[in-house]
Amino acid sequence: MDEDVLDSAASSLYSLGFLESEEQDGARGGTEGFDAWAPWGREGLSFHFSTRDAPFTESTDEIREELTKDPSPPLFKEYKDADRIFLPRYQEDPGRSYREVLYRRRTHRDFADAPVGREVFSTLMAMTFGVKDFIDAQQFGALMLRTSPAGGARHELEAYTVVTGVAGIAPGIYHYNVREHSLELLKEGEFRDSLTRACDSQSGVGEAPFSVVLTAVVPRLSFKYRHPRAYRVMLMNSGHLGQTFVLTATALGLGPFQTAAFNDSAVEELLGVDGVRETALYVLSAGVPAVDANGNAVLSHPPMSLEGSRKARFE
Ligand SMILES: Cc1cc2nc3c(=O)[nH]c(=O)nc-3n(C[C@H](O)[C@H](O)[C@H](O)COP(=O)(O)O)c2cc1C
Repeated sequence: MDEDVLDSAASSLYSLGFLESEEQDGARGGTEGFDAWAPWGREGLSFHFSTRDAPFTESTDEIREELTKDPSPPLFKEYKDADRIFLPRYQEDPGRSYREVLYRRRTHRDFADAPVGREVFSTLMAMTFGVKDFIDAQQFGALMLRTSPAGGARHELEAYTVVTGVAGIAPGIYHYNVREHSLELLKEGEFRDSLTRACDSQSGVGEAPFSVVLTAVVPRLSFKYRHPRAYRVMLMNSGHLGQTFVLTATALGLGPFQTAAFNDSAVEELLGVDGVRETALYVLSAGVPAVDANGNAVLSHPPMSLEGSRKARFE
């Protein structure tokens, strides 16, 4: 067998954690520290170590030509034939200061029965998932900008919403059409319980008047970034949108929730996406926070009391 092929196979097996290397492990202090990865098994190791130290190359005319010789996957996903609700362009003024938003944000799992206002919901969708502007990326065509950064600026993430309690919006599962700022109806009716079951029956999803499922349209990013490390970028992009969602929800007076604990196949089936070209990454929810008799938001983990701090370990 060709020596290069053997070298490359050995190096892949090494980076996946199946082989040890005297030379390289010596340089990074043997296998010490890998016990920290043990609970995550081979999958966790392979996830991370096979995409470490990626070689970055200068972009050249030849590379740009190669990357743009086929038409790029569309920037926007649309369900052209779906019934739709056009969301209002009016935006609620979030009002709260940046400092207040940062420090007030908490994860909420209890919500009031009150429906979320249509304009509040619409503002949250626009500020988190809508178009902020466009840039001219020359050979790569027009690229959209959102309020969150996105590695590759391809904005491969789509938002779907499962609505049960938003004023003026019939319960159902919708795709958020970014270009139109509209909701495209995929399934009409109550689907909160189905989503909750797909999320391991978690209370944040189970009580929320609406949830948003973030999916990634893989070819929209893999077309431009052809190295496996781009998978990390996709997950980071999803985290950015998640953070913008929870901060914006807080600014608008809503209580946000987020979870990565869901059955991918069940969520994808609910949305009607294939789980391969388009895959679910993150579930976000929000609602009007439930309050106690003193008017304080009900939190499953309230700030620690004196009694609690006496019992707690801080080390
Ligand atoms: C990526 C991610 C996944 C999460 N998954 C869950 C979850 O599955 N269930 C849950 O109850 N909370 C989940 N949370 C919420 C965290 O438990 C919560 O952020 C943490 O306890 C800190 O509380 P705080 O958000 O109120 O500051 C998740 C948060 C993040 C950022």
